Amino acid sequence: MMFKGMHIISMKNFSRKMIDHILDTAEQLEDIARNKEQSDILAGKILAVLFFEPSTRTRMSFETAIMRLGGNVLNLGSVDISSIAKGESLADTIRVVAGYSNAIVLRHPMEGAAKLASEFSSVPILNAGDGAGHHPTQTFLDLYTIRRESHLEGLKIALAGDLKYGRTVHSLCYALSHYGADITLVSPEELRMPQEIINDLKNRGLNVTETDSMESAIKDVDVLYMTRVQKERFPDDAEYQKVANRLKITPELLESARSEMKIMHPLPRTTEIDPGVDATPHACYFQQSFYGVPVRMALLALVMGAME
Ligand code: NCD
Repeated sequence: MMFKGMHIISMKNFSRKMIDHILDTAEQLEDIARNKEQSDILAGKILAVLFFEPSTRTRMSFETAIMRLGGNVLNLGSVDISSIAKGESLADTIRVVAGYSNAIVLRHPMEGAAKLASEFSSVPILNAGDGAGHHPTQTFLDLYTIRRESHLEGLKIALAGDLKYGRTVHSLCYALSHYGADITLVSPEELRMPQEIINDLKNRGLNVTETDSMESAIKDVDVLYMTRVQKERFPDDAEYQKVANRLKITPELLESARSEMKIMHPLPRTTEIDPGVDATPHACYFQQSFYGVPVRMALLALVMGAME
């Protein structure tokens, strides 16, 4: 498998064999991510970080990943103090930054931005979220978490929250289609998964059901994947307020869940997971955010050609 030079844009571009290889590579790197071992396989390499939207975990875990492998970070920093504020196009910014770096991590509010950037870049583009579109590197860490904390094969999973605007769930369900999952989609009517994606999943042979009831959805699943209502994608605040606090997971609700059920969340959370859930054995979202480090180390090492 040749990952060197590859752009990471959408999960639709990955076969099961490729996904498994990336997860295996992440596993090999986990001790380095935990700083139990040292490595400099990316010494001399520079990762450019271009974030046009807020981020904590994605940006910092990419930066940690390149640094733990001996490479360096070049961060655009605030968009307001870059030439983008003077009206520079994304295409021009990418052409220039590609000349300064060995790979570019890009987060942008426009769906399709990473694909567009890849057409102008001489180095790999890693899509760190393009509007409500895709977030493939999050999906690799989600899959890694599921493999480590539950099981991927024949998984029963509930995806809950903002399934309309949530890019993490869009990417995740495409990936799960390679493992034969049973997917329950839990959302208010207004935030349902786009029909086009549901059709794709059914065509890929997945069992997909929709509900607006958290109570019924969590009874029989291995994993509950909770998401935040994506306030920033709503056309107006009144629409957001209507659905903002509709779904919530509490310790009481969890009494009907299976004891081994894991709760994941890409974070940040707002009100959808009660802090009382954190101390239960179901909570898995902080481990999940750590797994972003070995997974992004693997992606960087593979696309930069330091590993095969
Ligand atoms: C997610 C995102 O940016 O899509 N965050 C993340 O990358 N961990 C989820 C979110 O913002 O709700």
